[in-house]
Amino acid sequence: MIIRSAEFEISAVRPNQWPEGGLPEFAFIGRSNVGKSTLLNRLLGRKNLARTSGQPGKTRQINFFAINKLFRFVDLPGYGYAAVSKTQRAQFAEMIDKYLTEREPLVRIVQLVDIRHEPSKDDISVHEGLRGLDVPLMVIATKMDKISKSKVDSHVKVIRKALQTDVQIYPVSAENRVGLDVIWERFENDMAP
Ligand code: GTP
Ligand code: MG
Repeated sequence: MIIRSAEFEISAVRPNQWPEGGLPEFAFIGRSNVGKSTLLNRLLGRKNLARTSGQPGKTRQINFFAINKLFRFVDLPGYGYAAVSKTQRAQFAEMIDKYLTEREPLVRIVQLVDIRHEPSKDDISVHEGLRGLDVPLMVIATKMDKISKSKVDSHVKVIRKALQTDVQIYPVSAENRVGLDVIWERFENDMAP
């Protein structure tokens, strides 16, 4: 995919702020700090279009980006971040849930997990919920650069087992830009008529 334009559109806290539909949307979901915003930037070859941080809880709204005026990337707030209040966590969850269940142009959900660790309880329950939706789902196991190459397959197996899933799991490193081409292939497929 050649990125001719990538524009931040809006940080939405309410559905009436979602941009007008029409363009197919790819949504990125995962634990806080797993690397959603970083991956989104790397896929687009943009440095800091989606704001990233070493501190969890950076993305707190639903951020919409229009790419090539052809499709959208949607950066969702991270789940499982302990340092925000219970009320706020519940608000995030409701906001995300509403988007995922009601957003008509959504063509693909990308759940990110950290390749280093067994999926958390949150990862597992979110995955279960996502599988129950009627939207194609994939898992990206990120931060691959943090483990040795020889361990990648076994870590992917651990993740698959914990999530009890048959959806595809793609190991990537946003840091080293490894594994991104195959993600683009899938996305292009999702948009094919
Ligand atoms: P929230 O917005 O808080 O939900 O977090 P997020 O999932 O958007 O995470 P973000 O992209 O801000 O990245 C969190 C941290 O992980 C940053 O310090 C990134 O540099 C780092 N990171 C992200 N992807 C990778 C990767 O592939 N490899 C390595 N080594 N670090 C990564
Ligand atoms: Mg983020």
